[in-house]
Amino acid sequence: MSKAQQALLSVSEVTVRFGGLTAIDSVSFDVHPGELLGLIGPNGAGKTTMLRAITGVVRATHGEVRLEGEKLNGLPIHKRIRKGLSLSQQLVKPFREISVLDNVALAAGMDRTRSPMKALLRVAQDEEAAIGRAMLERVGIGAYADQMPGIQPLGVLKRLEMARALALKPKLLLLDEPLAGLNSKEARALADTIADINHQGVTIILIEHNLGEVMRICQRLVVLDNGRKIASGEPRAVMDDPAVRSAYLGGDADASEDTQRPALAVAGGHHA
Ligand SMILES: Nc1ncnc2c1ncn2[C@@H]1O[C@H](COP(=O)(O)OP(=O)(O)OP(=O)(O)O)[C@@H](O)[C@H]1O
Ligand SMILES: [Mg+2]
Repeated sequence: MSKAQQALLSVSEVTVRFGGLTAIDSVSFDVHPGELLGLIGPNGAGKTTMLRAITGVVRATHGEVRLEGEKLNGLPIHKRIRKGLSLSQQLVKPFREISVLDNVALAAGMDRTRSPMKALLRVAQDEEAAIGRAMLERVGIGAYADQMPGIQPLGVLKRLEMARALALKPKLLLLDEPLAGLNSKEARALADTIADINHQGVTIILIEHNLGEVMRICQRLVVLDNGRKIASGEPRAVMDDPAVRSAYLGGDADASEDTQRPALAVAGGHHA
């Protein structure tokens, strides 16, 4: 509390083990208020596990996660949501039987009722519908409010997922590969929306394999590889770090010396 600028989120020496596998190995980093932080690294690096440890989906074996100085370890997911965390998942799974708008209104209701069932009964309430409409506008799909989610393309569903996450009024929004599966034009547009949401005051952790967009919109990067933090800092400097190049290029940084930086941008998602 006495620090000049308190971190919004502070991850210290977090380790997550699944049986004999160490998915996260003593990783520490801070997220500052207002920041758009990119969390990157090759497949299996531990990025999703880190988000899950922050939101309480998995338990940290060691270490601490603090939000505004307050320890989150041991708190269940819904309490962490109430304290200001919101996770937008890699897989988009809206309720298909209710409209796009009601999906967001439901999330707005959950913020207050804590129970999905109670929230469902409150869906019709004007206030939640108003929040829902505002969030849909904010992510650029206001026109889809009254349609059913089942018939929407992936780009719309991803924005719906983001609107649902925003309806929880998060202090910290956690996005896991929101651009995966989109073509480059759609990815660029959604990245612009993410940057807008950040500029409107929402602090964001963005996990992405689309390094081109990450470089374009993130203010700072943290890089994981094999469960360890291997670099952090200003995006350009991080991308020039031999350890990062080596991690992305499969352990032979020297061989890539004449490769331009964009070659690192394994744009468009997973490399096998
Ligand atoms: N619930 C689980 N049980 C056992 N092992 C797990 C579990 N979740 C993740 N892992 C393992 O932990 C490691 C890190 O996985 P994680 O999903 O966090 O990586 P990631 O960086 O998100 O990868 P990707 O870019 O492919 O999404 C992997 O070896 C993965 O197989
Ligand atoms: Mg992942």
